[in-house]
Amino acid sequence: MTLPLSLYLHLPWCVQKCPYCDFNSHTAGETADKRRYIAALINDIRFEAERAGDRVVETVFFGGGTPSYFSAPEIEALVAEATASFNLASDAEITMEANPGTVERDRLADYRSAGINRLSLGAQSFNEDSLRRLGRIHGTDEILAAWRDAQKAGFDSINLDLMYALPGQSLDMAMSDLQRAITLSPQHLSWYQLTLEPNTIFHTRPPADLPNEESSWEIEERGHELLGAAGFEHYETSAFARQGFACRHNLNYWQFGDYLAVGAGAHGKYTDDSGNVWRYRKPAHPASYMKASETAQPGVRMQLLAEADLLFEFMLNGLRLERGFTNGDFEARTGLPWSAAEPGVARAVSLKLMTGGDGSGGTAVFRPTDRGRRFLNDLQALFLPDPAFYSQSQA
Ligand SMILES: C[S@@+](CC[C@H](N)C(=O)[O-])C[C@H]1O[C@@H](n2cnc3c(N)ncnc32)[C@H](O)[C@@H]1O
Ligand code: SF4
Repeated sequence: MTLPLSLYLHLPWCVQKCPYCDFNSHTAGETADKRRYIAALINDIRFEAERAGDRVVETVFFGGGTPSYFSAPEIEALVAEATASFNLASDAEITMEANPGTVERDRLADYRSAGINRLSLGAQSFNEDSLRRLGRIHGTDEILAAWRDAQKAGFDSINLDLMYALPGQSLDMAMSDLQRAITLSPQHLSWYQLTLEPNTIFHTRPPADLPNEESSWEIEERGHELLGAAGFEHYETSAFARQGFACRHNLNYWQFGDYLAVGAGAHGKYTDDSGNVWRYRKPAHPASYMKASETAQPGVRMQLLAEADLLFEFMLNGLRLERGFTNGDFEARTGLPWSAAEPGVARAVSLKLMTGGDGSGGTAVFRPTDRGRRFLNDLQALFLPDPAFYSQSQA
C-alpha cells in the first residue's frame, strides 16, 4: 500500500529567538545568508524528488524558524521548484508559517500569489504583557494588522497559533485570549500549552509565576468548552478546526503517513517499496546544512525503524487524534500485525486510558479516553520499546 506523501521545508531564521522556543531556529543577525540557503534548498528539493519518484505529494509545509522572514520571490522560487520537481497534487495544501512581526502590508498578498494557500500566524496571545514576557517581536496591533492583511490577500484558510499556561496568566486572561481569537473567526486554531523545553531560557530560569498543574488543567478544560461552543472541532491534542479545515499536512504526520524533509534539521519518514520504514534527518545547523547540500547529497542520515520503534511511533502520533485509529490503520501504516499492539492496548484499556474492542472480530476503533488525553504521556509510554524485546528483535 502506498502511503500519502507530504513535503516539509525548514526555514531556520527568526528576527529574535523567543525564550521558550527549542525549535531549530536561529537569530538571523548578520549570519543569515538567505540567497545561499535558497540555493541549498533547491538542490535538496531535487534530491528529495528522486526519492519520491512519481508518488503524489499531497501537502507542502514551510515551517521554521520564521518562513515569513523570507521574501515572497524567495518563497515563490521554492514553490516553483517543488511544483516542477514533484508530482504535486492539483489541490495540494501549501501552508506557510508567519510571524506577525515580520509581515508588512503587501507581503501576504505576494505570498498568496506565490502559491501559498494556507497561512499559519504565530499570534501566541492578545495580551500585551503576555506577549512582552514571551519575548515576542510584535504586539496585539501587529497581530490584528497581519490578520486583516491576510484576509485582504485572499487567504481563506488561516490558522492562529496561541499558547496558554503563560507566565502570570489567570483563567480569565487565557479565556480572553481565546475569545479574541474566536472573534476573528479563523478556520483553524492551534492552542498549545506552554512547555519548558530543555536548552531554552525559560527552562534555565523558569518564570516564577507560571500557573500550576491544576490551574493549567482548568484553563484547558474551560478552553475546550469555549472552542466547542464556538463551533471548532477538537481533532487533535492541540488542534481545533472548523469543518473541512483540519490541517491535512499535520494529519498525515499523526496518521503515520510518509513525509519528505528539506532544509536544516528537517526530519523525514519514508516507506520503501519493500515496506521498510526509514527515518532520516538533514544536518541541523544552517551552515553545516548549506555546506552539505552544496555537495551531491545533502547530508542525509538514514535510520531503519525496528518493529518496536514502529509500534511506539505509531502510538505516539495516533493517540493524539480524537478520532483515534483502527486496527486496520495500524497494520496498513506500520506493516505489523495487530498482535504487536495488543498487549499495550489491553493494558491501556484496563487502566481506562483507551477504549476499543480487541480487534479480533474485524475492524475496531481505538481512542484515548478523557483520562487518556489528560495523561497522554503515560498512555504513550505503555508502548515504549521494551529493551528485552528490542534486543531480541535485533539479534
Ligand atoms: C515555528 S513557530 C511558528 C512561526 C513563527 N516562528 C512564530 O513563532 O510566530 C511554531 C509554534 O510553536 C509554538 N511553540 C513554540 N515553542 C513552544 C513551547 N515551548 N510550548 C508551547 N508551544 C510552543 C508556538 O505557538 C509557535 O507559534
Ligand atoms: S517561537 Fe517562532 S519566532 Fe520565536 S524563536 Fe521559535 S520559531 Fe522563532
